[in-house]
Amino acid sequence: MKKRMISGIQSSGTITLGNYIGAIQNFIRLQDEYELFVFIADLHSITTPQDRKELQHNIRSLAALYLACGLDPERVTIFIQSEVPQHTQLSWILECSTYMGELERMTQFKDKSRSQAEKTANASIGVGLFTYPSLMAADILLYDAAFVPVGEDQKQHLELTRNLAQRFNNKHGETFIVPEPVIPKTGARIMSLTEPTRKMSKSDPNPRSFISMLDPLKTIEKKIKSAVTDSDGIMAYDPENKPGLSNLLTIYSVLTSKTIDELVAEYADSGYGAFKADLAKIVVDTIAPIQERYHEIYASAMLDEILDTGAFKAQRLASRKLEKVNKKIGLGRRRK
Ligand code: AQP
Repeated sequence: MKKRMISGIQSSGTITLGNYIGAIQNFIRLQDEYELFVFIADLHSITTPQDRKELQHNIRSLAALYLACGLDPERVTIFIQSEVPQHTQLSWILECSTYMGELERMTQFKDKSRSQAEKTANASIGVGLFTYPSLMAADILLYDAAFVPVGEDQKQHLELTRNLAQRFNNKHGETFIVPEPVIPKTGARIMSLTEPTRKMSKSDPNPRSFISMLDPLKTIEKKIKSAVTDSDGIMAYDPENKPGLSNLLTIYSVLTSKTIDELVAEYADSGYGAFKADLAKIVVDTIAPIQERYHEIYASAMLDEILDTGAFKAQRLASRKLEKVNKKIGLGRRRK
């Protein structure tokens, strides 16, 4: 029997080329090997302020993009996190056994709370951003997932999930599977096109810093051509001293399977202009067919059917697990 694996992406904007390379391409590779559950993490996305209409659109859009990029609903269970209320219920239970110190150490909380404070005049940070890792633990533990694909930035959160599972099992007896991380083969971290020492993020206020999977193709071309590089003109992979160029080399390599060394040799004499023009074409050729499929899927009733089926299947597993947890803790009542 295939081992179960779960992952999700926040619906906090339109996914970027970073999400595609760092997460979705891996889901596609993993869908044969594992019993894969992939969700739209809409509850996670409200840890930062969201506009109602945009959020509604982003949720459906992310579901359509999962399919347009190549997730196969016959093999993968795709569902919307908030349509399975057990996530928030288990999250609360886990929060009650998560220590303040554990959450205070999370670097993503420190980064996101800092950037949120920078973005808004009002520096108040919602508690949800702080307790986010307990919700992520619930997302995983509800489904007895043995594996979770994790990028560098999620390792700390998965470690907390493992600690919470073990803590619960020690206190109440074997209940949760302690999940193992799977480090993707191409664990590339794609950086911002304007500030290449920061990661590419869909909620970055500067749209020139990221390539959205739904950007007009002309815009994608322009963004790549104007990506920040350096002025010495020497083609080399050096993330520390040449972070912009190194980021573009990574994108090129991941999308073509040419090695970075091959690319450096190929473009050694042609300058950044020709390199960027070729890369722009490769990115456009990757994204154009996805966009074509996306528009059809977004408006289809088939998308709703897939999400209904996914929610039904997820709820069945999640409600069984939550019932077990409630019983072990002593919540609710026993009928006389
Ligand atoms: N720049 C990136 N390079 C490679 N992988 C990335 N991921 C995100 N950005 C990059 C991977 O995408 C998955 C889901 O991400 P998420 O949306 O749930 O959260 P995030 O990591 O916070 O992504 P964003 O785009 O930066 O979202 P916002 O702007 O809303 O915070 C994860 O597997 C992540 O590794």
